Amino acid sequence: MARSIILSVEHLSKTFKSGDQTLTVLKDVSFAIEEGSACAIVGPSGSGKTTLIGICAGLERPTDGAVIFNGIPMHLASEEELGRIRNQFIGFVFQTFQLLPSLSALENVMIPAEIRGENHARSHASELLKRVGLEERLHHYPVQLSGGEQ
Ligand SMILES: Nc1ncnc2c1ncn2[C@@H]1O[C@H](COP(=O)(O)OP(=O)(O)O)[C@@H](O)[C@H]1O
Ligand SMILES: [Mg+2]
Repeated sequence: MARSIILSVEHLSKTFKSGDQTLTVLKDVSFAIEEGSACAIVGPSGSGKTTLIGICAGLERPTDGAVIFNGIPMHLASEEELGRIRNQFIGFVFQTFQLLPSLSALENVMIPAEIRGENHARSHASELLKRVGLEERLHHYPVQLSGGEQ
């Protein structure tokens, strides 16, 4: 049986305006990703990888085109709706990790479930960290790293 499409990007473009200059970063990008598959975006520095991922994750808006995630048109969603979709469905490992330094690894992973009001945020987060082999690190605190490309 054919797997369903989890993410569909259609004729996406993104431009940045600065004064009278317009920088076109993404131009008519279209692709579809099947549920359960792994996908890598590969390209030289500055080619628009981070911009594309940011738009697919609902962190940024496209200038033109459509992003359909699990049947939801993300490009039309309100900020509130995007927040809900990110909280529930999207995991994002940033190059600079964006962890809250005053919280342990476990507490950092608990945040989205706590925002959703889950009763078992702590045990759920603990289970997730164990699943990726980080059971020794549950109560470690993030080390602050400087800068780095995103
Ligand atoms: N917020 C922004 N404003 C203006 N230009 C941007 C912005 N974000 C990215 N760019 C430009 O868009 C291009 C692609 O950047 P980026 O998506 O970070 O590429 P990559 O991740 O492939 O290195 C670069 O030329 C970058 O300078
Ligand atoms: Mg990048």
